[in-house]
Amino acid sequence: MKVLVTGAGGMLGRDLVSACRRRGDEVVPLSRAELDIVDGPAVDRTLAGHRPDVVVNCAAWTDVDGAESHEAEATRLNSEAAGIVSAAAAEVEAAIVHPSSDYVFDGARRSPYVESDRTNPLSAYGRSKLAGETSVAVANPRHFVVRSSWLFGVGGRNFVETMLHLAGQQSEVLVVSDQVGCPTYTAHLADAITRLVEGETYGVHHLAASGSCSWYEFAQEIFDQSGVECRVMAATTEMLGREAPRPPYSVLHSERADAIELPTWREGLTEYLRERDSERREEAA
Ligand SMILES: NC(=O)c1ccc[n+]([C@@H]2O[C@H](COP(=O)([O-])OP(=O)(O)OC[C@H]3O[C@@H](n4cnc5c(N)ncnc54)[C@H](OP(=O)(O)O)[C@@H]3O)[C@@H](O)[C@H]2O)c1
Repeated sequence: MKVLVTGAGGMLGRDLVSACRRRGDEVVPLSRAELDIVDGPAVDRTLAGHRPDVVVNCAAWTDVDGAESHEAEATRLNSEAAGIVSAAAAEVEAAIVHPSSDYVFDGARRSPYVESDRTNPLSAYGRSKLAGETSVAVANPRHFVVRSSWLFGVGGRNFVETMLHLAGQQSEVLVVSDQVGCPTYTAHLADAITRLVEGETYGVHHLAASGSCSWYEFAQEIFDQSGVECRVMAATTEMLGREAPRPPYSVLHSERADAIELPTWREGLTEYLRERDSERREEAA
């Protein structure tokens, strides 16, 4: 299978390229410098040139707080450009995989969200991702919209790195305890996506780590597993005053009979820390 990956320099993009290579796929990894997905003619030319079987669109605006004051730019990338990539994929008879987010939900529920649940994004980022789901779906019937949650991957800017960095500078951290989700290791998500595209179960899929926790519990587990001494103090979302509102509860489950189950978020963290250590050892050698 030939897989073209946009946004291949990002956190998920990098793990996806590795997962495809491990599976023996031919991969065309394109970073932002190699393909700007806002440039429609370049997208058309590139896909017509490579003629992939599957396009995975990992290019995105992911600055959740920044999107509040730049909603038009976030929407241009997460919806309009995503639609352009999806249409170009359809033109060369390729399927499209489009990662989306748990932030399409408002979090008013206290039980896991499944694919058919009503969406109601609270933030500009969530609105841009939801608009992207539609743009991608209308442009290409062979679409996989993959909603995931709270991603962390080696080499990316993510919560685990933020916590370990803070622990190196201070003896205690303040972390919100009133937002619950599924912290998902990007290598696990990437593996699940490579399995997903082997089939033809087009439509929306929830692919997130098994289990759930608050950011507070996640921080405690990060310090426990990495053997770092740092006290975690619980804060409310209101206390931290971030620009973008976030759902208080955005646990994702799948209602599909053919659902692909991911390992737990604790297992994801263990593998992340192991992978991070081995990369650091290689860099030091
Ligand atoms: N991170 C999360 O917690 C999370 C949760 C749920 C869903 N998701 C979704 O999962 C997907 C992957 O997220 P991620 O965390 O891997 O994001 P990421 O690390 O921020 O990667 C996004 C990539 O897109 C690139 N990009 C930005 N503008 C572009 C453009 N115009 N053309 C081509 N590439 C462009 C970025 O390049 P530069 O770095 O050079 O700008 C970056 O390499 C996104 O769709 C995101 O919405 C993320």
